[in-house]
Amino acid sequence: MMDLNSNEREKSMTQTMATIFPRSCRSAVNQVRAFHASSVQNAEARLKTFAVYRWNPDQPNEKPYMKEYKVDLNTCGPMVLDALIKIKNEIDPTLTFRRSCREGICGSCAMNIGGTNTLACISKIDSNLNKASKIYPLPHMYVVKDLVPDMNNFYNQYRSIQPWLQRNDVKEIGHQQYLQSVDDRKKLDGLYECILCACCSTSCPSYWWNGDKYLGPAVLMQAYRWIIDSRDTQAKERLEKLRDPYSVYRCHTIMNCTKTCPKGLNPGRAIAEIKKLLGNVIEKEKPGLNTTALQN
Ligand code: SF4
Ligand code: SF4
Ligand code: FES
Repeated sequence: MMDLNSNEREKSMTQTMATIFPRSCRSAVNQVRAFHASSVQNAEARLKTFAVYRWNPDQPNEKPYMKEYKVDLNTCGPMVLDALIKIKNEIDPTLTFRRSCREGICGSCAMNIGGTNTLACISKIDSNLNKASKIYPLPHMYVVKDLVPDMNNFYNQYRSIQPWLQRNDVKEIGHQQYLQSVDDRKKLDGLYECILCACCSTSCPSYWWNGDKYLGPAVLMQAYRWIIDSRDTQAKERLEKLRDPYSVYRCHTIMNCTKTCPKGLNPGRAIAEIKKLLGNVIEKEKPGLNTTALQN
């Protein structure tokens, strides 16, 4: 992703204005902008300290440490990701973190901020200037560098649940639509919105201790999403793959996962539903529509 520095941004905005606005209008906008810039310069700096976890794999003998940065909140956007980008652009280009969408959609900027796993781009900076904001990578993950966790195990676990529609009657892929009733579609609400940020899994004590064998709340919620999809015919096979002492049953309903999810989802409930299906307490309901009614 391309980041313009402030000079480039200024130049690009001036060029855009020149093409859009007449001269008199441009001069008024310039006056407003000059007034805004001078009032920001004159305002007393509101310096906020950010203490950020640092570790560099190229210096393996150096232990991880916390580095403090002071950021003037008058010249910084409102979110923690804004502060990290400002630190990287203006203070320390070696600081490493992931980010992409900056609006809570991609899940890249998941980290531990002030003791909570969340997304930096939708986390407001705590405006208490007397207290440092502490920022760590997601807990109990191997660290690639600074705030970047190694997500390989997490993604391999996601792959293991085969997160795609499966049918036992596919004739030719891409030649048929599968119908779903409105009520069946509603069953996917609260599940499909997951952005796989891993905030929940890395807040789960069971996942901390058994992350190699326990699938964790994020992946289990997606397993449940495919198990209950009315168009998927492989629920039984999917459930059988989870029937071992670790994949699901390491969940002890501690519910850290649901508490921390930055998208307001409830992976703890999805796991409870899987356990009920595995224990034959409930059964997957029959589709409300003949899913293959529409032939193309
Ligand atoms: S409910 Fe289960 S998955 Fe969620 S935090 Fe607790 S043990 Fe982990
Ligand atoms: S359930 Fe929530 S916290 Fe967990 S991966 Fe999905 S969006 Fe992130
Ligand atoms: S940058 Fe995409 S979720 Fe934060």
